[in-house]
Amino acid sequence: MRAVLCREWGGPESLRLEESDRMPLKANEARIRVHASGVNFADTLMIAGKYQVRPEFPFTPGLEAAGEVTEIGPAVRHLEVGQRVLAVLRFGGGYAEEIVLNADAVVPIPDRMDFVTAAAFPVAYGTAHFALTHRGHLQPGETLLVLGAAGGVGLSAVEIGKHLGARVVAAAGGPDKLAVADAHGADELIDYTSESIRDRVRELTGGLGADVVFDPVGGDAFDQALRAVNWEARMLVIGFAAGRIQSVPANLILVKNISVIGVVWGAQAARDPVLVSRNLAELLRWWESGRLKPVVAKTFPLAEAGRAMQALLSRRHAGKIVLEA
Ligand SMILES: NC(=O)c1ccc[n+]([C@@H]2O[C@H](COP(=O)([O-])OP(=O)(O)OC[C@H]3O[C@@H](n4cnc5c(N)ncnc54)[C@H](OP(=O)(O)O)[C@@H]3O)[C@@H](O)[C@H]2O)c1
Repeated sequence: MRAVLCREWGGPESLRLEESDRMPLKANEARIRVHASGVNFADTLMIAGKYQVRPEFPFTPGLEAAGEVTEIGPAVRHLEVGQRVLAVLRFGGGYAEEIVLNADAVVPIPDRMDFVTAAAFPVAYGTAHFALTHRGHLQPGETLLVLGAAGGVGLSAVEIGKHLGARVVAAAGGPDKLAVADAHGADELIDYTSESIRDRVRELTGGLGADVVFDPVGGDAFDQALRAVNWEARMLVIGFAAGRIQSVPANLILVKNISVIGVVWGAQAARDPVLVSRNLAELLRWWESGRLKPVVAKTFPLAEAGRAMQALLSRRHAGKIVLEA
């Protein structure tokens, strides 16, 4: 089988598709013939040596994949050979023609869901759902501000926020991206390339501010959003796509009983795979009922994984980028 290998810390241009050894299968594992792998911002951090997880070389990036089960270990009960599934890979490995992983991290997908959509699904929707419910306790009628609202996790947060009954304010860079957020249910739009997040959120909320902020961007966007939140607001720290890890002035969080809440979905998935699989199964039911509409902006062949990552980093696309194997 072939896999994309990272042999040294660096940028997307260093990735190559190479022949790789097949992994043996343990009793609790499943072997999957991969048809598609989702590309995430975190993959670009992992190959640069800047992610929470730093695998040994050579390693294969890729935190999510979809395909068919080709073999299961004797202890696996909930899967069958031939079943169509998605998989969550905490330590990477998804950019490959075949993966072997703990079967707890493998979830059957609906018959109607194609592999490209399935590969784009778990990280974005799993993170947004976990952040807004388990960590943020978003309530119907609350105002949710989503930063980076047309990115992978951001667009999922717009949809899930709407589904949970919030008034969703989507903030992103440029009219094309905001049009996508609008089509996915955002109530209000902020173009932060030309508008102040702080001023617009205050204006849209009659001076009160947002109740919950979903922030995968960090840096200046976080700093502005912190100055545009309501009493007892929850700031969900998802990531730092802008490149600067912000510091939080403790006086600002004191004066309004604000909570700044860390969110890490991948590590939670490893600690509690049953909770995460149950949540993914629920999200897949929401997809089946038409409430979630994943956007795949572009697909690339597996051999062009580097180009796919560059496309993600270009900030030109709304939604997800997916590799096809
Ligand atoms: N905590 C968790 O469990 C978890 C899970 C998944 C992802 N994340 C994090 O969430 C962030 C987004 O991940 P993703 O996979 O959704 O990425 P993505 O699809 O590339 O979205 C990132 C968004 O950030 C915005 N952005 C602002 N400054 C940027 C910059 N300098 N470079 C690139 N994008 C920039 C872009 O929107 P505009 O152009 O509109 O500004 C882009 O749409 C990452 O930091 C990732 O590590 C965290």
